[in-house]
Amino acid sequence: MPNPGFTGRASANLSGTQSARPAVLVTGGSGGIGRAISHAFGQTGWYVGVHYCRNKTAAQATLQDVISPSGTGDIFQADLREAEAIQRMITHFGQQTMSASSTAMICAAGIGASSLLLRQRDEAWADLVAINLTGTFRCLRAMAPLLIERGGGSIIVLGSYAGFHGGTGQAAYAASKARPSALVNSAALEWGDFNIRVNLVLPGWQETEMSREAMPEADGWQDHALHRPPSRHEVAGTILHLAQLHDVSAQVWNCDSRNLQ
Ligand SMILES: NC(=O)c1ccc[n+]([C@@H]2O[C@H](COP(=O)([O-])OP(=O)(O)OC[C@H]3O[C@@H](n4cnc5c(N)ncnc54)[C@H](OP(=O)(O)O)[C@@H]3O)[C@@H](O)[C@H]2O)c1
Repeated sequence: MPNPGFTGRASANLSGTQSARPAVLVTGGSGGIGRAISHAFGQTGWYVGVHYCRNKTAAQATLQDVISPSGTGDIFQADLREAEAIQRMITHFGQQTMSASSTAMICAAGIGASSLLLRQRDEAWADLVAINLTGTFRCLRAMAPLLIERGGGSIIVLGSYAGFHGGTGQAAYAASKARPSALVNSAALEWGDFNIRVNLVLPGWQETEMSREAMPEADGWQDHALHRPPSRHEVAGTILHLAQLHDVSAQVWNCDSRNLQ
């Protein structure tokens, strides 16, 4: 049966066969941080499933980056507002990676928004919650059976400092990013017996499509002990490292130099 949520394998999977590489699905692989994460995994030999929603061209560019010079991967389309599309994507990711030596999912898809609370529109609020929170929940719910079947694996969700402290103009985004930490902790507790590690990573300020207009550079990064945001390379490396740890779960990893408490 044709699968509308899966494209591109034939041209991109250079191995041509099911290999025993570790496999990762990166939601938001077409985005700025997702591309860096995909690159980090691809360069160390992982099969990378690059997810996108609308921007297929960007996902293809990420995949190109992953497979050069000797990586392997595919692109996968799904709108996180649609539970069936998510299920379809993960089913096909499972089929493409049946012989994977280990399996991980990085949840980097998300949207941002900036609005003062008194001007916050209901529709924008609902969209943030639908994608950042409900979409993430659905990804976890769809991925868990595959990981259980495989004897465990790693799930890393990208959270936000704003989800812990809020921020001016950030109420809706912060609220949509606050709940994933509770979701991650609950999933870690429920799935620990299946050897599934679930962690939250806060990537700090990264200049991407989402954050470009909100980057607080003008203040000299006064609230950062190091007076600078973290490099994207280091964030991606942290996620790659964490995905390979077997004994760490239910943790929050903040990648910048702000105090979380
Ligand atoms: N940038 C920062 O400073 C920062 C700070 C803290 C946390 N974060 C978090 O890091 C993650 C990545 O952010 P980013 O800066 O890389 O953002 P980005 O460059 O804007 O990328 C966003 C990604 O989310 C996908 N997406 C958007 N709507 C979607 C939907 N309805 N269904 C499925 N996917 C959807 C986009 O796919 P298409 O483009 O293909 O539609 C894209 O791949 C987000 O969770 C964000 O909240 C970012």
